[in-house]
Amino acid sequence: MSRLESHIRRLQAQCELLNWATSIQESRNSVALDLGLGNGRTYNHLCERLPGWRVVAFDRQNAADPKSLGPKSEVVLGEFQVTLPEFAARYPRSARIIHSDAGLSDPSANARQMQMLGAVMPELAADGAIILSDQELAHPLLQRIHPPVAVPVGRYFAYERITASLGLRRARRSALVTAHGGGYAPEFA
Ligand SMILES: C[S@@+](CC[C@H](N)C(=O)[O-])C[C@H]1O[C@@H](n2cnc3c(N)ncnc32)[C@H](O)[C@@H]1O
Repeated sequence: MSRLESHIRRLQAQCELLNWATSIQESRNSVALDLGLGNGRTYNHLCERLPGWRVVAFDRQNAADPKSLGPKSEVVLGEFQVTLPEFAARYPRSARIIHSDAGLSDPSANARQMQMLGAVMPELAADGAIILSDQELAHPLLQRIHPPVAVPVGRYFAYERITASLGLRRARRSALVTAHGGGYAPEFA
């Protein structure tokens, strides 16, 4: 597959997942976050699909096409490591949709970035929030989900922010399965 074809497939997956997430999160006047403003295409798409919502973009710089932004646009500038925990502290667990398009080409920098993003997501996301990410995330409170959207394997990842009690049960279950050498743990099944 050429790089052009790969790029088109990535954007198609991104657009269809954003359409799916925005169509199932019906509550009005909620909050959506776009991590990685870039050119502003996904930010603009979220704003169009979510009238009445507060849609906030994050990036270290504002390099968006002016057509992507409007008078009510909210862009938080700075490093994610700083801006996201600050936003979470100010508006804890407020987002019902989070889209992250922040993968880095250097594998070790990317792994560090995804570890940081995975850790902060549960602080940003309300229970039942949908998180879409171009990279895999790992956290006991982020449950992988499989939207009814044709997305090539490994191209995009979707999660639901689950409640702390469910996350604890999951963490206990996996600890028990590990302790039993991967065997069946009937009391937590
Ligand atoms: C692929 S672009 C996002 C494209 C965007 N979704 C669009 O539709 O145009 C990724 C963006 O994430 C930003 N970014 C990556 N890591 C960051 C970090 N640690 N802190 C702040 N911004 C970051 C980059 O500056 C870049 O603009």
